Amino acid sequence: MVSSEFISATEACEFLGISPDTFRRIVRDMNLPTTSDPTDARVKLYNRAAITALKQQPLIIPTRHRVVTLSNNKGGVSKTTSAISLAAEAAADGLKVLLIDAAPQASATISLLDEAERPQETDHGILLSWLKGDTPFQELITPIVFRQFQIDFIPSSPKNDQIDRANPLEAVPALREFFESWDDSPYDYIFIDTDPSFGTLVSMAQVGSHFVICPVQADVLSVDGTIQLTRQLQRARNLTKSQFPALLGFFLARFDPRKRVCKEALDTLRAAYPESVFEAVIPENVRVTESPSQKAPINLTAPDSKGAIAYKALWKEVRARVERTTGA
Ligand SMILES: Nc1ncnc2c1ncn2[C@@H]1O[C@H](COP(=O)(O)OP(=O)(O)O)[C@@H](O)[C@H]1O
Ligand SMILES: [Mg+2]
Repeated sequence: MVSSEFISATEACEFLGISPDTFRRIVRDMNLPTTSDPTDARVKLYNRAAITALKQQPLIIPTRHRVVTLSNNKGGVSKTTSAISLAAEAAADGLKVLLIDAAPQASATISLLDEAERPQETDHGILLSWLKGDTPFQELITPIVFRQFQIDFIPSSPKNDQIDRANPLEAVPALREFFESWDDSPYDYIFIDTDPSFGTLVSMAQVGSHFVICPVQADVLSVDGTIQLTRQLQRARNLTKSQFPALLGFFLARFDPRKRVCKEALDTLRAAYPESVFEAVIPENVRVTESPSQKAPINLTAPDSKGAIAYKALWKEVRARVERTTGA
């Protein structure tokens, strides 16, 4: 029997949200004491208190920007809406924000740009053209200037789907490598909107991120899908051999307080991830649905709506959690 004073490497990796490689490196660097499992001398155990203390250590991000991807393998759960709303809240807070539409469905692009402003027949201006070496990254960026703030934006088009057919070994680490070496990045936050898939683009976004936020719709299937996401992130960390991408948290979206299933889903999620569920819950709100037709985020189209108020609260928590995690 493993005493609760000790913890296995697998458990420690899961608890810390890091890859086995990273764990081995930390154990070596910090000279963490180990003991042998009394039932199997080959298995090393670690002191639980020492591992818990590690979790309090801030994650170091050397660049100015913090990269945050909205991800969930299910469609229609509010990834795009939340990416736009969080980017807009960050911009309204006075931060310099880049929003990347990495979804071939291009819903964020359709929500923010008039037809004439969207990438047309050519590949130009989307992530695919950058990966092919045809467009420098900076030239992908379209500033969207609102009266109150600006969001810099990289649009998408269905052609981004071709990234899936490109060489994944090259594509998956591409954003990460670019972001890591982007010394003169002017951005505080980079948000990435993704499609519901396990494809190359989603991996590229996750691998390129410091943090992943996962909107969950209040039904059981969607809550079950969170396990897939945590596994996907662990695989991404195995690739980056680092503590990134870290799960920043789950939040419930399109919440209808009159529905019992919604309340049950929230309870299930909080029980499964006691530390990872944001307090803020985004209600189902018709103003949220309407805002794409006005080509502006909810904090501008309906700032007093329940949806806008909830997204402001979510952003405050997101920012606080990012700052706490990175010791900022
Ligand atoms: N809180 C909300 N209240 C009402 N409608 C919402 C809300 N969040 C998203 N929607 C709507 O639900 C649909 C799916 O949302 P979307 O953000 O596109 O999801 P995803 O990107 O995960 O597929 C869109 O029509 C969007 O306007
Ligand atoms: Mg979407």
